[in-house]
Amino acid sequence: MTTTHTITVEPLGTELQCREDQSILDACLRNGVWLPHACTHGTCGTCKAQVLDGDIDLGDASPYALLESERDDGAALMCVATPRDDVVIEGDVDIEDGITMYPVRDFSGTVAALDEIAPGVRRLVIDLDEPMEFNAGQYVQLNLPDGDNRPYSIANAPHETGRIELHIKRTENGVATAGWVFDGLAAGDEVTLSGPYGKFYFRPGREKPVLLLGSGTGLAPLVSILKTIMAIEDEEGEWEHEVVMYHGVATSADLYDREWFEALAGERDWFTYRPAVSREQFDGRQGRVPALLAQDYPRAGGNVAYICGNPAMVEDTMRALMKARLFPRDIYREDFFDAADRANGAHVVRSPLIKR
Ligand SMILES: Cc1cc2nc3c(=O)[nH]c(=O)nc-3n(C[C@H](O)[C@H](O)[C@H](O)COP(=O)(O)OP(=O)(O)OC[C@H]3O[C@@H](n4cnc5c(N)ncnc54)[C@H](O)[C@@H]3O)c2cc1C
Ligand code: FES
Repeated sequence: MTTTHTITVEPLGTELQCREDQSILDACLRNGVWLPHACTHGTCGTCKAQVLDGDIDLGDASPYALLESERDDGAALMCVATPRDDVVIEGDVDIEDGITMYPVRDFSGTVAALDEIAPGVRRLVIDLDEPMEFNAGQYVQLNLPDGDNRPYSIANAPHETGRIELHIKRTENGVATAGWVFDGLAAGDEVTLSGPYGKFYFRPGREKPVLLLGSGTGLAPLVSILKTIMAIEDEEGEWEHEVVMYHGVATSADLYDREWFEALAGERDWFTYRPAVSREQFDGRQGRVPALLAQDYPRAGGNVAYICGNPAMVEDTMRALMKARLFPRDIYREDFFDAADRANGAHVVRSPLIKR
């Protein structure tokens, strides 16, 4: 039997149990203690907390996300740290007014559909054995056959219960993608996952026009947000704010679900769809999302922006918005970090102003 230890989370004083093979973040999220986190794989540094007492194993923390000097000062990344003793940590418990956070749980389900929707992009639909509650924009950890897991953003809206839709891009030599989702996984297969995770979620209470800025499969959580806004309009009879969605891709063949977005833009007067193709001639706008944004929004103040995609695109888009005078408090970001980013330290969070 695995040994468990008591974790005390200050300044709340909350005590909870954590197994020796479980990350402290995982134990907290499953017990409704909402510590900040983004990548959950030791890459971004968002979950850094101070260990006030007790022994821990620092786990697979990227040396870029947790510097040697921070380790010496007793800091640790809660998403990869495991307890060796009863532990007291001081965390920055993250609770926002008007948002219900749902504890992380384990789920099982069956692959209902697995379709190629663009070159090297698959839509994976999983029928869950039990419905999952989550906020639009959050993600799940999909368990791989070898026992490891990978984060994927949920593309359906929370009210579409009982199903989880994921948009998964193939990574060359990737264990989860090239080695499984694109080679072996099939409709009818049983899968397991956990969720919901992440602090990249829609804030419907923010009364402002919305910019949804995605590259590649970074569109997934933005679709969940868009469908949530559609549901609000259907339920309340109106949605007052403009919603502009940019989808940045390399070639026009990568613009998956384009017809659906175009039809939606024709039906809902608050919605504008702006596909952006960077690497070939195209009948629409050409260029990367940050460059097109800079053209379209010399002043972006007054909006609230949700950015999602590969870390380089997210960083450049964030900079373009800040240059256009949108404050960091009005920008939410989700970086699709992978193992290569963990190894090379791409865009580790350094500023507390920058939300992930
Ligand atoms: C919060 C979050 C949400 C995400 N959501 C999505 C989503 O909705 N859709 C999506 O497509 N992706 C998403 N991702 C990315 C996804 O989780 C995976 O990282 C991606 O699918 C690659 O997984 P893989 O197992 O195929 O590749 P991996 O096997 O993890 O490898 C990834 C890359 O790293 C390289 N690599 C592996 N180990 C090392 C090492 N030690 N040193 C240097 N390089 C190494 C590999 O060669 C490969 O190029 C998300 C990531 C995060 C953090
Ligand atoms: S959430 Fe722990 S390092 Fe990213």
